[in-house]
Amino acid sequence: MKPKDLMIQAALARKASYSPYSKFAVGAALLTRSGRVVLGCNVENSSFGLACCAERTAIFKAVSEGERDFVAVAVTAGKGHGAAPCGACRQVLHEFSPEMWVYFHDDAGKIVRKKVSALLTNGFRLRSHGGKR
Ligand code: THU
Repeated sequence: MKPKDLMIQAALARKASYSPYSKFAVGAALLTRSGRVVLGCNVENSSFGLACCAERTAIFKAVSEGERDFVAVAVTAGKGHGAAPCGACRQVLHEFSPEMWVYFHDDAGKIVRKKVSALLTNGFRLRSHGGKR
């Protein structure tokens, strides 16, 4: 799937954003190795620190449905907003697929493609867990 097509899915996901506090709606579309597209949006809370980013919503949805291997994720905050994933989301993406692609808009509206491993160098890994559970 081309970056542009996955980005169209991210824009659809953004429509469900629950962001009454920041008024900053974000959508993510995650392409799994098995060929599925899993959508996510940011979900905020009146206790502000509990907000969940669009990327993490998508990843947690996907993992809870048995997916752990990801090819790419597209993220959008709408036209005119460059929106690269935050540091917390980079770490969560890195947990599952450090070599997956991340597509996001730069401030000029062009789609940038970067690997998670490039966005998060030396991402944390807990070696002792064996990676199975
Ligand atoms: N947000 C995302 O959904 N993804 C990011 O990578 C950065 C920030 C959301 C969280 C919050 O709901 C809003 O954007 C403003 O920070």
